[in-house]
Amino acid sequence: MKLLEDRILADGNVLSPAILKVDSFINHQVDPVFMHELGAEIARHFRGQGINKVMTIESSGIAPAVFVAMELQVPLVILKKQSSAILKTDVIQTEVVSFTKEISYQLTLARKYLSENDHVLLVDDFLANGEAATGAIRLIRKAHATIAGIGILIEKSFQPGRTKLNEQGIHVYSLARIAEMDTDHITFLPEEA
Ligand code: G4P
Repeated sequence: MKLLEDRILADGNVLSPAILKVDSFINHQVDPVFMHELGAEIARHFRGQGINKVMTIESSGIAPAVFVAMELQVPLVILKKQSSAILKTDVIQTEVVSFTKEISYQLTLARKYLSENDHVLLVDDFLANGEAATGAIRLIRKAHATIAGIGILIEKSFQPGRTKLNEQGIHVYSLARIAEMDTDHITFLPEEA
Protein backbone atom coordinates (compact mmCIF):
# COMPACT_ATOMS: atom_id res chain seq x y z
CA MET A 1 0.00 0.00 0.00
CA LYS A 2 1.78 3.09 -1.27
CA LEU A 3 0.25 5.29 1.43
CA LEU A 4 1.93 3.25 4.18
CA GLU A 5 5.23 2.85 2.31
CA ASP A 6 5.45 6.62 1.83
CA ARG A 7 4.70 7.25 5.51
CA ILE A 8 7.36 4.72 6.58
CA LEU A 9 9.90 6.47 4.34
CA ALA A 10 8.89 9.90 5.69
CA ASP A 11 8.49 9.15 9.42
CA GLY A 12 10.05 5.75 10.14
CA ASN A 13 13.52 5.33 11.61
CA VAL A 14 15.69 2.27 11.05
CA LEU A 15 17.33 1.63 14.42
CA SER A 16 19.32 -1.39 13.25
CA PRO A 17 19.18 -3.66 10.18
CA ALA A 18 16.34 -5.52 11.94
CA ILE A 19 14.33 -2.90 13.84
CA LEU A 20 12.15 -0.18 12.36
CA LYS A 21 10.82 2.53 14.65
CA VAL A 22 7.36 3.81 13.72
CA ASP A 23 6.31 5.17 17.08
CA SER A 24 5.29 8.61 15.78
CA PHE A 25 2.26 7.21 13.92
CA ILE A 26 1.66 3.51 14.72
CA ASN A 27 2.63 2.23 18.14
CA HIS A 28 3.33 5.03 20.60
CA GLN A 29 1.61 8.07 19.16
CA VAL A 30 -1.19 6.92 16.82
CA ASP A 31 -2.45 8.83 13.78
CA PRO A 32 -6.13 7.77 13.91
CA VAL A 33 -7.17 9.03 10.47
CA PHE A 34 -4.24 7.24 8.85
CA MET A 35 -4.83 4.11 10.97
CA HIS A 36 -8.46 4.08 9.85
CA GLU A 37 -7.35 4.01 6.22
CA LEU A 38 -5.00 1.10 6.91
CA GLY A 39 -7.70 -0.79 8.81
CA ALA A 40 -10.21 -0.21 6.01
CA GLU A 41 -7.78 -1.68 3.46
CA ILE A 42 -7.26 -4.85 5.53
CA ALA A 43 -11.05 -5.14 5.95
CA ARG A 44 -11.53 -4.68 2.18
CA HIS A 45 -9.10 -7.53 1.48
CA PHE A 46 -10.84 -10.01 3.81
CA ARG A 47 -14.48 -8.90 3.42
CA GLY A 48 -17.04 -11.54 2.36
CA GLN A 49 -15.22 -14.46 3.98
CA GLY A 50 -17.63 -15.00 6.86
CA ILE A 51 -15.35 -13.42 9.46
CA ASN A 52 -17.25 -12.87 12.71
CA LYS A 53 -14.36 -11.85 14.98
CA VAL A 54 -11.17 -9.84 14.66
CA MET A 55 -8.38 -10.78 17.05
CA THR A 56 -5.13 -9.07 18.04
CA ILE A 57 -2.38 -9.26 20.65
CA GLU A 58 -1.92 -6.44 23.12
CA SER A 59 -0.72 -3.77 22.82
CA SER A 60 0.36 -2.32 19.46
CA GLY A 61 -2.02 -4.46 17.42
CA ILE A 62 -5.05 -2.91 19.11
CA ALA A 63 -5.12 0.37 17.16
CA PRO A 64 -5.25 -1.16 13.67
CA ALA A 65 -7.46 -4.04 14.83
CA VAL A 66 -10.14 -1.67 16.18
CA PHE A 67 -10.51 -0.09 12.75
CA VAL A 68 -10.60 -3.46 10.96
CA ALA A 69 -13.28 -4.69 13.37
CA MET A 70 -15.26 -1.48 12.97
CA GLU A 71 -15.14 -1.77 9.17
CA LEU A 72 -16.24 -5.43 9.28
CA GLN A 73 -18.80 -4.63 12.02
CA VAL A 74 -17.66 -7.51 14.25
CA PRO A 75 -16.23 -7.71 17.81
CA LEU A 76 -12.51 -7.40 18.50
CA VAL A 77 -10.89 -9.92 20.87
CA ILE A 78 -7.58 -8.84 22.47
CA LEU A 79 -5.20 -11.58 23.57
CA LYS A 80 -3.51 -10.74 26.88
CA LYS A 81 0.18 -11.01 27.61
CA GLN A 82 0.05 -9.79 31.21
CA SER A 83 -1.17 -12.11 33.94
CA SER A 84 -4.25 -10.78 35.68
CA ALA A 85 -5.92 -11.64 38.96
CA ILE A 86 -9.38 -11.33 37.41
CA LEU A 87 -8.52 -13.55 34.42
CA LYS A 88 -7.70 -16.75 36.31
CA THR A 89 -10.45 -19.25 35.57
CA ASP A 90 -11.59 -20.81 32.34
CA VAL A 91 -8.81 -19.44 30.17
CA ILE A 92 -6.87 -20.89 27.25
CA GLN A 93 -3.13 -20.22 27.33
CA THR A 94 -0.02 -20.86 25.27
CA GLU A 95 3.60 -19.83 25.77
CA VAL A 96 5.16 -17.43 23.26
CA VAL A 97 8.90 -16.81 23.06
CA SER A 98 9.72 -13.52 21.32
CA PHE A 99 13.11 -13.48 19.60
CA THR A 100 12.71 -9.77 18.85
CA LYS A 101 12.10 -8.79 22.48
CA GLU A 102 13.97 -11.71 24.09
CA ILE A 103 11.10 -12.46 26.46
CA SER A 104 8.51 -15.17 26.89
CA TYR A 105 4.93 -14.81 28.06
CA GLN A 106 1.67 -16.71 28.42
CA LEU A 107 -0.74 -15.60 25.72
CA THR A 108 -4.12 -15.75 27.44
CA LEU A 109 -7.74 -15.74 26.30
CA ALA A 110 -10.95 -16.15 28.30
CA ARG A 111 -12.64 -19.21 26.83
CA LYS A 112 -16.03 -17.46 26.59
CA TYR A 113 -14.79 -15.10 23.85
CA LEU A 114 -13.93 -17.80 21.28
CA SER A 115 -15.73 -20.97 20.24
CA GLU A 116 -16.10 -23.43 17.37
CA ASN A 117 -18.64 -21.01 15.83
CA ASP A 118 -16.01 -18.32 15.25
CA HIS A 119 -14.13 -17.53 12.02
CA VAL A 120 -11.29 -15.22 13.00
CA LEU A 121 -9.16 -12.57 11.29
CA LEU A 122 -5.91 -11.92 13.18
CA VAL A 123 -4.49 -8.38 12.90
CA ASP A 124 -1.12 -7.06 14.10
CA ASP A 125 1.20 -4.14 13.48
CA PHE A 126 4.45 -6.05 12.75
CA LEU A 127 5.30 -9.47 11.40
CA ALA A 128 8.89 -10.42 12.25
CA ASN A 129 9.62 -13.98 13.32
CA GLY A 130 5.93 -14.74 13.63
CA GLU A 131 6.06 -16.26 17.09
CA ALA A 132 3.25 -14.10 18.46
CA ALA A 133 1.02 -14.89 15.47
CA THR A 134 1.82 -18.61 15.71
CA GLY A 135 0.86 -18.52 19.40
CA ALA A 136 -2.42 -16.78 18.57
CA ILE A 137 -3.16 -19.48 15.97
CA ARG A 138 -2.51 -22.19 18.57
CA LEU A 139 -5.11 -20.53 20.82
CA ILE A 140 -7.64 -20.23 17.98
CA ARG A 141 -7.20 -23.93 17.24
CA LYS A 142 -7.43 -24.88 20.92
CA ALA A 143 -10.82 -23.12 20.96
CA HIS A 144 -11.83 -25.08 17.81
CA ALA A 145 -12.41 -21.79 15.97
CA THR A 146 -11.20 -21.29 12.38
CA ILE A 147 -8.79 -18.74 10.86
CA ALA A 148 -9.57 -16.61 7.82
CA GLY A 149 -6.05 -15.18 7.68
CA ILE A 150 -3.74 -12.54 9.07
CA GLY A 151 -3.70 -8.83 8.23
CA ILE A 152 -0.42 -7.07 8.99
CA LEU A 153 0.63 -3.43 8.67
CA ILE A 154 4.40 -3.93 8.28
CA GLU A 155 5.98 -7.23 7.33
CA LYS A 156 9.75 -7.55 7.58
CA SER A 157 10.02 -10.00 4.70
CA PHE A 158 13.69 -10.70 5.40
CA GLN A 159 12.60 -12.44 8.62
CA PRO A 160 10.87 -15.84 8.63
CA GLY A 161 7.37 -14.92 9.92
CA ARG A 162 5.45 -15.08 6.63
CA THR A 163 7.07 -18.35 5.54
CA LYS A 164 6.34 -19.88 8.96
CA LEU A 165 2.67 -18.87 8.71
CA ASN A 166 2.26 -19.88 5.05
CA GLU A 167 3.70 -23.30 5.94
CA GLN A 168 0.81 -23.68 8.42
CA GLY A 169 -1.65 -22.90 5.60
CA ILE A 170 -2.37 -19.37 6.84
CA HIS A 171 -3.05 -16.60 4.32
CA VAL A 172 -1.05 -13.44 5.16
CA TYR A 173 -1.93 -10.00 3.76
CA SER A 174 0.61 -7.28 4.58
CA LEU A 175 0.19 -3.62 3.64
CA ALA A 176 3.94 -2.93 3.46
CA ARG A 177 6.58 -5.61 2.89
CA ILE A 178 10.15 -4.63 3.67
CA ALA A 179 12.69 -6.56 1.59
CA GLU A 180 15.68 -4.94 3.29
CA MET A 181 16.58 -1.86 5.27
CA ASP A 182 19.45 0.01 6.81
CA THR A 183 19.83 3.45 8.30
CA ASP A 184 19.68 5.30 4.97
CA HIS A 185 17.37 3.22 2.81
CA ILE A 186 14.34 0.90 2.90
CA THR A 187 13.39 -1.36 -0.01
CA PHE A 188 9.84 -2.71 -0.36
CA LEU A 189 8.58 -5.83 -2.12
CA PRO A 190 5.82 -5.22 -4.73
CA GLU A 191 2.30 -4.70 -3.40
CA GLU A 192 0.00 -7.68 -2.96
CA ALA A 193 -3.35 -7.81 -4.77
P1 G4P B 1 9.22 -12.51 17.28
O1 G4P B 1 8.87 -13.89 16.87
O2 G4P B 1 10.59 -12.08 16.96
O3 G4P B 1 8.80 -12.17 18.66
O4 G4P B 1 8.43 -11.64 16.27
P2 G4P B 1 6.97 -11.17 16.27
O5 G4P B 1 6.62 -11.04 14.82
O6 G4P B 1 6.13 -12.06 17.10
O7 G4P B 1 7.08 -9.73 16.96
C1 G4P B 1 7.40 -9.61 18.32
C2 G4P B 1 7.14 -8.25 18.86
O8 G4P B 1 8.14 -7.33 18.39
C3 G4P B 1 5.83 -7.66 18.43
O9 G4P B 1 5.37 -6.82 19.48
C4 G4P B 1 6.19 -6.78 17.26
O10 G4P B 1 5.26 -5.73 17.10
C5 G4P B 1 7.54 -6.26 17.69
N1 G4P B 1 8.41 -5.95 16.57
C6 G4P B 1 8.99 -6.83 15.73
N2 G4P B 1 9.76 -6.19 14.86
C7 G4P B 1 9.65 -4.86 15.12
C8 G4P B 1 10.22 -3.70 14.53
O11 G4P B 1 11.00 -3.72 13.57
N3 G4P B 1 9.84 -2.51 15.07
C9 G4P B 1 8.98 -2.42 16.12
N4 G4P B 1 8.68 -1.20 16.56
N5 G4P B 1 8.44 -3.52 16.72
C10 G4P B 1 8.78 -4.72 16.21
P3 G4P B 1 4.53 -7.44 20.62
O12 G4P B 1 5.31 -8.45 21.38
O13 G4P B 1 3.23 -7.95 20.04
O14 G4P B 1 4.32 -6.29 21.65
P4 G4P B 1 3.73 -4.85 21.49
O15 G4P B 1 4.87 -4.01 21.05
O16 G4P B 1 2.65 -4.91 20.49
O17 G4P B 1 3.23 -4.56 22.84
